Amino acid sequence: MTSSRLLKILCTASVTCFMVISSCRKDTVPLVPPGQDTAWTISYPGHFPTPVYNFENNPLTKEGFELGRKLFFDRILSANNTVSCSSCHLPEAAFAQRGHDLSHGIRGNLGIRNSQPIFNMMWNTSFFWDGGSNHIEVQPINPITHPDEMGNTLEQAVKAVNEVAAYREAFKKVFNKDQADTEGIMKALAQYMCFMISAGSKYDKIQQGVAGYQFSQNEERGYMLFKQHCNSCHTEPLFTDHSFRNNGLALLPNTKGAIDLGRGVITHLDSASYYKFRVPTLRNLKYTSPFMHDGRYETVSVVLEHYRKHVQQTPNLDPQLAHGIPLSDREKDDLLSFLNTLNDDNFVANPAFRMP
Ligand code: HEC
Ligand code: HEC
Repeated sequence: MTSSRLLKILCTASVTCFMVISSCRKDTVPLVPPGQDTAWTISYPGHFPTPVYNFENNPLTKEGFELGRKLFFDRILSANNTVSCSSCHLPEAAFAQRGHDLSHGIRGNLGIRNSQPIFNMMWNTSFFWDGGSNHIEVQPINPITHPDEMGNTLEQAVKAVNEVAAYREAFKKVFNKDQADTEGIMKALAQYMCFMISAGSKYDKIQQGVAGYQFSQNEERGYMLFKQHCNSCHTEPLFTDHSFRNNGLALLPNTKGAIDLGRGVITHLDSASYYKFRVPTLRNLKYTSPFMHDGRYETVSVVLEHYRKHVQQTPNLDPQLAHGIPLSDREKDDLLSFLNTLNDDNFVANPAFRMP
């Protein structure tokens, strides 16, 4: 059987799959072969690289994804039933937190950083602005136990999940376990988050040669400028190279009165890592405002003003930005037009990812 036929059959088997991948194209790459009726396949466009996460030890199933989705939207993971993952990762904000420059967690506690969007997680080599977690199957432990986020203990969270009969049944079905446990919660959340692939923007359609899609003249000029000035860090097609860099933001005290060392929080003995943050993706910027690790900028236009005029000579400033990025007003407009082609409205509106 050819791989495109296999993919077609798999897609037919799953309605959600259809919603995620609008069409079953030859150049989509199936990742997870079907083992059972409810096994799901992940596919992604041919212009994407091979993912880092591969479901090898966490076979993707419809039930596993649904369990993860349910947990993601459920406040019982927090200490006092008030905060869910989705409180700070809103579907309508491409799973970032809109309008809040800093995440508000349990009892209204203010964190120190801007909530990150969640999509294309399979390609992440690390998580958080400082890369403080290196695996999606352990990453959620941090928000669940963080005093400013969900303020819980893992024991309490597992206990709360086990008190719900529907969850116990789901854990039996998905992991063949009589009880929910931390490992299962992490794996189910990983299935949900990794299934969320955003690859349907105008840019992607053009990369895939879909008929009827082409850049306007402004967008095309913007794309050239992007390749010249931005692509070295915000590398296509994920629009990040996952590296840690200092892009010259002024060093301002955070909500706790400290200057955020970024990567330096993790590798604090290495002063060469200070003030570097993980390069964020530029996909779905229409939805993820505000911007930067502390949400200091409201609009993409203001971000471009930063690169044009306000890059600060701070320790470890990336050498590429030593003189800022010179852009005329017209070039700035062209760049904004190009960045707009990276928005994936279907992904953000996809009901399959929203509250069950
Ligand atoms: C109180 C707000 C809040 C809650 C609740 C919360 N998060 Fe987050 N999330 C954040 C913030 C802020 C960051 C960035 C943290 C940092 O860099 O230090 C983040 C980062 C992440 C990332 C990393 C994304 C990337 O590109 O590296 C993932 C994945 C994630 N959260 C998943 C979850 C899950 C799963 C839950 C529920 C178990 C959850 N979050 C609950 C605020 C929150
Ligand atoms: C030297 C690497 C580098 C270059 C070149 C660069 N950036 Fe960035 N960019 C970063 C880093 C690092 C951040 C995050 C900084 C932080 O929050 O502390 C960032 C943040 C951003 C953000 C905010 C995104 C968000 O979700 O918060 C936008 C938008 C952006 N850059 C656009 C651009 C554009 C457009 C260009 C080219 C004109 C460009 N960048 C060039 C490294 C770079």
